[in-house]
Amino acid sequence: MKITIIGAAGSVGAPAAFYLAARGLADEILMIGGKRQNVLKQHAMDISTAVSGMGVKIRAGGYEDMGGSDIVINSAGVQQGLIKDRMEMLPKNISLIRDIAGEVKKHCPDAFFITASNPVDPLNYTVYKSAGFDRHQIIGYSVNDTFRFREMVAAEYNVEPGQVEGVVIGEHGSTQVLLFSTVKIDGKPVEIDESTKQRIREEVPNILKRYEELQAGRTAGWTCAMGFARIVNAVINDTKEVIPCSVVLDGEYGQQDLSMSVPAVLGKGGVKDIIEYELAPDEQEGLKTTTETLNKAKKIVDEALSQ
Ligand code: 2OP
Repeated sequence: MKITIIGAAGSVGAPAAFYLAARGLADEILMIGGKRQNVLKQHAMDISTAVSGMGVKIRAGGYEDMGGSDIVINSAGVQQGLIKDRMEMLPKNISLIRDIAGEVKKHCPDAFFITASNPVDPLNYTVYKSAGFDRHQIIGYSVNDTFRFREMVAAEYNVEPGQVEGVVIGEHGSTQVLLFSTVKIDGKPVEIDESTKQRIREEVPNILKRYEELQAGRTAGWTCAMGFARIVNAVINDTKEVIPCSVVLDGEYGQQDLSMSVPAVLGKGGVKDIIEYELAPDEQEGLKTTTETLNKAKKIVDEALSQ
């Protein structure tokens, strides 16, 4: 199992390389970086030593080394400075993601391709449109929203996050839709009062902004590493685990040719199926808002790709 990580010098890519290696989810991890080749090489050397004896080869390299990759994770992005909303990053990232998608298509066209660069939904759509991948073979990484949702519900009810079910769909951004109708604790549905829902709705989409406000130059690298491992494990071991991911839709949730987060059944080859929940009236309203936002972003991508 060969995994390539693009953007591997960064605060999402480097923890991903370490954690996937430490979990034994690959025999080979290729780390590709941008301008900071010194940082990339240092990470590769350090991780290599950390996992020595575990049967995984770690190396820094370039696109020309990607051949034979089973999975590609891309977390590269143009430096943007402080942002308030992931969508601000779209204009500068489209051409970078188009170029990377072209490289992946050229060197490992059958790889399962995860885009973790933001904003993930229109950038996963960029991969789809510009390089012509099968929609089941490419996802945008969005499950952190669901992790945060479960963590906050767990805190409200004084239980462990592992006891909580519940998913977030829509934009991996400010209009994401928290599906309170899917929340269960220990397998039992719970009625959550409106003020609690409101508090959680205000907090979950704002976590990234809180990180930005700290000006630490870091993002959710540790959380992403956990999510990547779940996704990679589901794909390589064909577990059919349901994990919310941004997927290009073909009629699901009433959407066509739009990438947004949905509960995806992941297994060999990628997205095997998409679960369509019956939404509560407020969730349907939320879906309308989020798809309006994503359709505007899709137009920006279409315009940029046509030039
Ligand atoms: C997140 O929400 C960085 O978009 C990523 O964790």
